[in-house]
Amino acid sequence: MWDPEVYRRYADERDRPFHELTGRIGAGSPASVVDLGCGDGRLTATLAERWPGASVLGVDSSEAMLAGAPAGPRLRFEAGRIEDWAPAGPVDVLVTNAALQWVPAHWEHLPRLVGAVAPGGWLALQVPGNGDAPSHALLRRLRASPRWRDRLGDGGRWPDVLDAPGYVRSLARLGCAVDAWETTYAHVLAGPDPVLGWVRGTALRPVLERLSADEAAEFEAEYGAALREAYPAEPYGTVVPFRRVFAVARVPA
Ligand SMILES: C[S@@+](CC[C@H](N)C(=O)[O-])C[C@H]1O[C@@H](n2cnc3c(N)ncnc32)[C@H](O)[C@@H]1O
Repeated sequence: MWDPEVYRRYADERDRPFHELTGRIGAGSPASVVDLGCGDGRLTATLAERWPGASVLGVDSSEAMLAGAPAGPRLRFEAGRIEDWAPAGPVDVLVTNAALQWVPAHWEHLPRLVGAVAPGGWLALQVPGNGDAPSHALLRRLRASPRWRDRLGDGGRWPDVLDAPGYVRSLARLGCAVDAWETTYAHVLAGPDPVLGWVRGTALRPVLERLSADEAAEFEAEYGAALREAYPAEPYGTVVPFRRVFAVARVPA
C-alpha cells in the first residue's frame, strides 16, 4: 500500500526531477495534459498552472495516493493503471514521473504511450536508475539471505530501466525526436537513518507488505544497519548519490 505521508518525507529531493523533466517540454498551449502515476497530484497541479488553457488529468493506481489530490477547475484525477490506460482522445502532453519503473518491462508500453500522444505532442518520462546502488543491492542481498530467502527471494534487479541511449533508441524508432539524459543527484539527507526513511516510501514498501509486523521490524533493523555502513552519517548529513534517467520525446507533427 502506498503511503503518501511516507512518500512525501523527502519532497524537495523527489520533486526536483519532475521540474527538470517538465522544464524540457516545449509545448506552448496544449489542450490536454495527462500525468500517469501522478501520486498525490501535487505536482500534477503545477502542470495546470503552467498551461492555463489545458485540461489536466492525473491517473494513479493507488486510491490512497489519490485521496489527497488537490481540486481545481481544469484538474481531474482518476484511478487507473498505466498498463491499461487509454485516453478518451489524443493527448498533447503526456508526463510520467517516477512511475514507469513499477510497470514490468515498461519499455514495451512505449509504442502505446507514444500512440496516445497527438501529432506534434510530447511524452516526458523520468525513472530512477539506482538499481545498482548500495541501497538496492543490499536489499536484494538481505532478501536472498538464508533468514529471508524462503519468504522473499531476492526479488530481481529493481528498478529495471533503460539508460538514456536506450530511451533514445526506443522512442526514436517510433519516429520521435528525443532528448534524453541522466543525472546523479548527490542528496544530503538530514536525520538518523535517512536512506531507510527514503526507501520505506519506495523499494522497501512491497517487501514489508509480505512480512508480519515483528518480521518487518527485524528485517528493517538488519537492513538499516547495513545502510548506515554503506551511507555513513557525516556532521553535515548523509550523502546519497541517486541516479535518474530522463527522456522527452516530441511526436512527429
Ligand atoms: C514514486 S511515486 C511518483 C508519484 C508522482 N509522479 C511524483 O512524481 O511525485 C509512484 C506512483 O506511481 C503509482 N503507480 C505504481 N504503479 C502504477 C501503475 N501500474 N499504474 C499507475 N500508477 C502506478 C504509485 O501509486 C505512486 O503514486
